[in-house]
Amino acid sequence: MGHFYAFEYVNIPQNIFTEIKAFGESYEKIIKEQYGYSKFHWTGAHDFLCKCPITARWMQIKKLEINDVAVFSHTEHSPAHVDRKEGSTCAINIPIKNFANSQVEIYHPVDLHKADSSFCLKKGGGTNAYTFDEDKLVLLEKYDSSQSVILNTQIPHKSFNFTNKNRVMVSIRPKNSFVETSRALRDE
Ligand SMILES: [Fe+2]
Repeated sequence: MGHFYAFEYVNIPQNIFTEIKAFGESYEKIIKEQYGYSKFHWTGAHDFLCKCPITARWMQIKKLEINDVAVFSHTEHSPAHVDRKEGSTCAINIPIKNFANSQVEIYHPVDLHKADSSFCLKKGGGTNAYTFDEDKLVLLEKYDSSQSVILNTQIPHKSFNFTNKNRVMVSIRPKNSFVETSRALRDE
């Protein structure tokens, strides 16, 4: 297996963070009303860019194009999974609220074309993710999810919440690759 990118911590400028935080909090309320707790909601790129004009300009300058945006509001761990979001292979994950005692584990990449139920790919991941038998995955790294990161969503990952509070996170899904996104955000 050649080199691959798993994750990278990034600094989000304060004015951008403030705008994204307000966006995340508005959807936290909507998620609570519509679904109860522990859900995520795709908002669409257009909605995000309209409501976050400072961020929109910032991303335009950095030549980052948004495919979609999700707001997560979770109380529990996620399953180990690979994202099935079309048109995007990485995420800029920005924690908004209650990220004390939470972390993400990243596992050795799995070839989804070769994986089947006898190996580690489980059925029933829904349309949003491929999930895995976790005891068959090999841990690569962990990161502190109280910090903003770029995450390669195409390798297996699992988020942990060791509190009973809702973690609220805004997840921006660029059309750009991990490397392009990383370069664009490096100078912040
Ligand atoms: Fe994911």
